Amino acid sequence: MSQATAIIVGASSLVSREIAKQLAEQGVELALLAQDTESLKEFSQSLPTQVSLHELAIERPKDIIATLESIWQQLGGAHLVIVNTGLNGYDASLPWQLEQDIITVNVQGYSAICNTAFRLFVDQGYGQLAAINSIAGLRGGPSVAYHASKAYASSYLEGLSMHAQRLKLPITISDLQLGLLDKAAMQQSRLWLSPPHEVARQALKAMQKGKRRAYITKRWRLVAWLTKLLPEFIYNTRHWRTKEERKAARAAKKAQ
Ligand SMILES: NC(=O)c1ccc[n+]([C@@H]2O[C@H](COP(=O)([O-])OP(=O)(O)OC[C@H]3O[C@@H](n4cnc5c(N)ncnc54)[C@H](OP(=O)(O)O)[C@@H]3O)[C@@H](O)[C@H]2O)c1
Repeated sequence: MSQATAIIVGASSLVSREIAKQLAEQGVELALLAQDTESLKEFSQSLPTQVSLHELAIERPKDIIATLESIWQQLGGAHLVIVNTGLNGYDASLPWQLEQDIITVNVQGYSAICNTAFRLFVDQGYGQLAAINSIAGLRGGPSVAYHASKAYASSYLEGLSMHAQRLKLPITISDLQLGLLDKAAMQQSRLWLSPPHEVARQALKAMQKGKRRAYITKRWRLVAWLTKLLPEFIYNTRHWRTKEERKAARAAKKAQ
């Protein structure tokens, strides 16, 4: 296969579009998967490379497998598969439906995509699977299923990487752990919010270097390190009291 090819699963997100743009500028042929392919039509036509659009039905694993296999046939294989799907949500009353939806997309759908891409790479003999994950997976958190799903996603990739080594195949598995993303892309001066084009640039650089794991953007490495290190009574900010609460507690103590 002489033409470089990449498949982007979850292509409608801002970061995926930025990655698609930057890959297209390098002449990489693209297959983009999204729930609503119609919404990507104009964007795909603006890219300076060959692009095909495919429907992504993430809640139906059999359809994901069939779609990826059919794209593989059409492209004659692929060098790179990027997985950038994800669902997040928070409701303090923890309704089951939200938890189930997150598990369906971030665990079931994600596994079907990564498993299929890996098996296709094994048949091909080489390739790179890169998934955009989150440092949220390093610890539990208020969006319970989301944090847990991101821990699962990371562990799943580590397992695939071990399989590639066992098979002695040059299949690179990259776990790209995002910090916070500036979706509005208008707050670039904010220290911790990274604009999508910079996230995409750093993600592609990490992929090109064949990194097993990278924190995107780089400054989130420090947060990740601290997150892993902190004891639960500090990490769990719900224990912390506000200035007013501390003042009220002191006043109550004095009054006793
Ligand atoms: N945003 C952040 O600050 C942040 C921080 C850390 C990590 N991340 C990670 O980055 C990745 C992308 O997140 P994002 O924030 O960029 O989210 P996003 O813009 O909502 O993108 C998520 C992608 O997943 C797709 N998706 C979600 N539910 C789907 C479903 N039921 N069927 C098919 N596709 C579905 C979306 O497609 P549709 O648009 O068609 O729904 C979209 O392409 C996730 O793995 C997330 O954990 C994000």
